[in-house]
Amino acid sequence: MKIKALIITVVLALASFVPAVIAQTNQTDKIETKEQHDARMAWWRDAKFGLFIHWGVYSVPGGYYHDKPVPDIGEWIMNRGKIPMAEYQQFAKEFNPVKFDADAWVKTAKDAGMKYIVITSKHHDGFAMFDTKASPWNIVQTTPYGKDPLKDLAAACHKYGIRLGFYYSQAQDWNNGGAAAGGKWDSAQQHDMDDYIDKIAVSQVKELLSNYGEFPAVLWWDTPSDMNTNRAQKLYNEVMALKPNIIMNNRLGGGFKGDTETPEQQIPANGFPGRDWETCMTLNNTWGYKRDDNNWKSTTIIIRNLCDIASKGGNYLLNVGPTSEGLIPQPSIERLAEVGAWMKVNGEAIYGTTATPFGSELGEAVKSKDGYGHDTTVSSGNDWRCTTKPGKIYVMIFNWPASGKLELPGLQSKAKKTYLLVDRKKLKFEQAESGVTLNLPAEAPDKIASVICVEIADATAKVAAQK
Ligand code: GLC
Repeated sequence: MKIKALIITVVLALASFVPAVIAQTNQTDKIETKEQHDARMAWWRDAKFGLFIHWGVYSVPGGYYHDKPVPDIGEWIMNRGKIPMAEYQQFAKEFNPVKFDADAWVKTAKDAGMKYIVITSKHHDGFAMFDTKASPWNIVQTTPYGKDPLKDLAAACHKYGIRLGFYYSQAQDWNNGGAAAGGKWDSAQQHDMDDYIDKIAVSQVKELLSNYGEFPAVLWWDTPSDMNTNRAQKLYNEVMALKPNIIMNNRLGGGFKGDTETPEQQIPANGFPGRDWETCMTLNNTWGYKRDDNNWKSTTIIIRNLCDIASKGGNYLLNVGPTSEGLIPQPSIERLAEVGAWMKVNGEAIYGTTATPFGSELGEAVKSKDGYGHDTTVSSGNDWRCTTKPGKIYVMIFNWPASGKLELPGLQSKAKKTYLLVDRKKLKFEQAESGVTLNLPAEAPDKIASVICVEIADATAKVAAQK
């Protein structure tokens, strides 16, 4: 009896222990030391600025279905318009990007000062923009174009020293039997999710990880509808087997945290202390091309966003939505060129920097919503931003002070010299207990953001806490 009781106790104890063990071995994210993690993230942290490209057959309807505009973002047209599969698939016949020039796209990114590109290899419509054996619903087999544009992009990225990453919609897939946010609308979509994961998602991720040489450098997952740990784990295992040093975002699902937070269409007031993060944002209101969307952000907004994000330690992934002919819309090209001109002069205040040593310039954190409608906060202060790297502070001034003076509040490190990046001419400054005061020229040299470098005697700026 006693032995039986003992056995039962042991079994029960083990039973309660087992889930904990499983939870741990199912532990999803990469096990690595801080040094290994920092080394893996180093290029991405230095890069700061990347190009997002949403490109697929949705650029054919460009926001219209049966001559009526479909509300919402362009790449969701099949879902929002409840377009039957057979009908949607006809768009592929008109997808013929003969004007696509991988070299020109990558050069556009490079000239904008961007260091990496993330392109939709497959969006929620399931259309593979690459050569795949897993599904015939791909650019090579169903379009008159008949080629794999990711191959050309990988070659051009290699040539220009830009890293290439792939966005892959692992969970939602409206044509291959994956999930559909909001529910399916066509009986042809009914399919077993695990079968979709095994036959489509896992196979395609393997192809993407194997067929593009040194790339992808980033795997950008999205919308983990219907993902669970088991499904996510299968994808994760492929990555670890084939490209373990890749950088992944936080949208795989199944409890994986990933390497980066991905606020969408907004810049959180305080970034994500202790986590790498990247704000992705559209240049107009849509990711995928929509012919009617001309609500372009100004170059001023884009440059100041980049300064704001860098000052909070994040990256900026700025989107273009090319047409079905393969052209990046001209208003996007123009803005990117203007950002590039600013970056040429001021890039050292962005690349390889870390967050502001101050913080009071950000002002109050104001309540807001992110791209998913979740609560977040944004900064109210809008006069200047700051980044730093060893021995240097970069002050990026948006609103030029009428007084001709700008105080760096509480800066205790000895300032050695200060100069505008645009001409490198020394500026006068005063150092006091309360901080360092910069004496500025009467006119702002750059109406969008004028950048001043303050060289300091300490590697890391010492700043007294502000009340
Ligand atoms: C969203 C949308 C999507 C877009 C992405 C970019 O999750 O589903 O269409 O690709 O955000 O962040």
